[in-house]
Amino acid sequence: MHLTKYDHAPRLPEGERVDLDALIPGGGDLMLEIGPGRGMFALQWAEQHPESRLLALEIRRKLAAVLADRLAARGSTRARAFAEDAGVALPRLGPDASVAWVAVHFPDPWWKKRHQKRLVLKDGLVTELARLVRPGGTVLIQTDVEQRAEEYRARFEAAPEFECVGDPWVPESPHAPARSNREARAIADGLPVWRMVFRRR
Ligand SMILES: C[S@@+](CC[C@H](N)C(=O)[O-])C[C@H]1O[C@@H](n2cnc3c(N)ncnc32)[C@H](O)[C@@H]1O
Repeated sequence: MHLTKYDHAPRLPEGERVDLDALIPGGGDLMLEIGPGRGMFALQWAEQHPESRLLALEIRRKLAAVLADRLAARGSTRARAFAEDAGVALPRLGPDASVAWVAVHFPDPWWKKRHQKRLVLKDGLVTELARLVRPGGTVLIQTDVEQRAEEYRARFEAAPEFECVGDPWVPESPHAPARSNREARAIADGLPVWRMVFRRR
């Protein structure tokens, strides 16, 4: 078998259910980041919140491996990255209502119609987030694609479990100063960022 440099990218344990408290023990509120990419947000946030836990799910094995290594190098097991498709992994995660925050930064840069099926944020994902996020918990989504922002908002507003915080956009990330790579780039370039926060009822 041909091994590549990133075959060590961590995967979630096999089985029907993954217990988040067993996966990342030690207590503390849990942040779920979907699609961390190069991982700046996860690294900064974990540094700023040593009392909390972070789970990052990144579909690209190389990016997941690099982030997992960088998180492990901090010497803490409270922030972990796995090479997983969030759409496949989320239905396996539990227990229900165990996630305090979800962050999805710049998830879908594609704008063409044919990319629609590759969207990260689809209806099924909203249903799983409604199950996983605890009452009062929040989902932050940010993007530099206005059309995508409107689509995400419509999806969450159609979910009775969530209420929109903001008017409808929020001017700043509730998790600042932690920034994702694309967020930092958009800010540096002076590009508009559409941010929205939905609270679990
Ligand atoms: C445009 S990048 C943004 C990266 C990062 N969030 C940022 O803001 O800099 C989107 C990221 O989502 C990841 N991604 C796409 N589909 C995914 C899925 N189904 N599950 C997990 N990650 C996914 C991509 O591999 C990529 O790293």
